[in-house]
Amino acid sequence: MNINYSGFTLWLTGLSGAGKTTISQGVELQLKTRGFPVEILDGDVVRTHLCQRLGFSKEDRDINIRRIGFVASLLSRHQVIVIVSAISPYKETREEVRQMTENFVEVYVKASLNICEKRDVKGLYAKARSGEIKQFTGIDDPYEEPVNPEITCNTEQETVDESIAKVICKLEKMGYLPIL
Ligand code: ADX
Repeated sequence: MNINYSGFTLWLTGLSGAGKTTISQGVELQLKTRGFPVEILDGDVVRTHLCQRLGFSKEDRDINIRRIGFVASLLSRHQVIVIVSAISPYKETREEVRQMTENFVEVYVKASLNICEKRDVKGLYAKARSGEIKQFTGIDDPYEEPVNPEITCNTEQETVDESIAKVICKLEKMGYLPIL
């Protein structure tokens, strides 16, 4: 392993069902195979531990994102590669986290609402449409697209493997990973 490598935070943002978790797990596997220490901070998981009892108001989402950002900055400072997978719908909050985190790489996991809703992996879009769930991102809550992300994975057009390869390739180009 390259002993000069630094930690960094790979921040995946996008709608529910866009493919953030799938891509983050694929990237994690590749990085672990190369011997790097990696931690995933996934919104769904974090919300059962670090962010229990937080809801989906702007205020609660911002607290969630700031906490995730705080942990990511601590870990990445100690040479851990942190992969964050969270909707993180507000541009300003993502920018705030970028400022407090060294080596921040933003990945926009892009898929249209229409496609995410068709996939409806967790059945939450149907519940949001029926009114059973309120403040659901994309339905009755906003998602602010990244303006200038380092990487965009368009999961409507790319396969999972292509998206993963794109992320790894860009990290190599940016100097965060040694080129194999
Ligand atoms: S964030 O907005 O604060 O970044 P986060 O990524 O942690 O969200 O959590 C989103 C996950 O919570 C979704 O993948 C989904 O499983 C679940 N969820 C439950 N209610 C909502 C909602 N109202 N809006 C979005 N996601 C929700």
